[in-house]
Amino acid sequence: MQTYFLAAIVVLLGLSISLNLYLLRKVQWVFRMADRLKHTVDRRFRQQMRQIQCLQALQQDLSFARSLPPAGGKAASPDFLKLLADHILREKPEVVVECGSGLSTIVISRCLQLNGKGHLFSLEHMEEFAEQTRKELDRQGLSQWGSVLDAPLEPCQVDGRAFNWYRSHELPDLVIDLVIVDGPPARTGTSPRYPAGPVLFPRLSFRGAVFIDDAGRPEELAVIAEWRRNFPSLNFRTDLDEFEKGVCTVRIADSSGSQTAARAAAGAGS
Ligand SMILES: C[S@@+](CC[C@H](N)C(=O)[O-])C[C@H]1O[C@@H](n2cnc3c(N)ncnc32)[C@H](O)[C@@H]1O
Repeated sequence: MQTYFLAAIVVLLGLSISLNLYLLRKVQWVFRMADRLKHTVDRRFRQQMRQIQCLQALQQDLSFARSLPPAGGKAASPDFLKLLADHILREKPEVVVECGSGLSTIVISRCLQLNGKGHLFSLEHMEEFAEQTRKELDRQGLSQWGSVLDAPLEPCQVDGRAFNWYRSHELPDLVIDLVIVDGPPARTGTSPRYPAGPVLFPRLSFRGAVFIDDAGRPEELAVIAEWRRNFPSLNFRTDLDEFEKGVCTVRIADSSGSQTAARAAAGAGS
């Protein structure tokens, strides 16, 4: 009888210890999750503060004639726009080409106006958004500095692969100082932004630069990795922590040689 009693106590003790260990693990899991959530909320909050600061800086530094359309969402984020504006005001590019029009078109055109030189050619595949951006350029008194080109997506072969990319025949045949890749949107095909590399990078001037938005998305990261392999004469710098959607900045690795920028950008070697 006494043996049965002892055995029952041992079993109960064992069950109680297992239950406590199980509960302890659950509590630890809840604490880990709470910690992760706090980290995410803190990061989002810091990002939101940064976006507000960048938007304020843009409005103050560029003193727009009228209020700006909303940033974020489909439009470029203020941190990306501030990066572009700082570059344009510092390096004063003459020929700027953008893939995907919108708020960025207004910011870039205003920077060119402040520089007193340069022109932006913005490729836009949707008539509705092309018209909207043209109206906004007009409203801001910037039509002289930026042109939105109607560029519907059309099937093309690039590096032996099939893509849908902008019809670019309206784009003047000029050497380009700055390229902004913010289109076509992801839903328009597989690796829809890939053709921007082979089509536009070989036209970069020696002081040329490329800014790629949304660089934190897996599809964009794959495209950037492929460009990196195919354009060894270009320097790719990706920043996924500081910028809301991730940014990749591209410069010509060595612009001091005598070869043409086109050869350098196309990776023809130095
Ligand atoms: C990432 S957006 C380009 C954003 C642009 N660079 C800007 O700063 O506003 C890429 C394309 O999405 C389309 N688009 C823009 N706004 C949109 C909206 N509200 N809804 C759906 N598509 C939109 C346009 O065709 C645009 O070229």
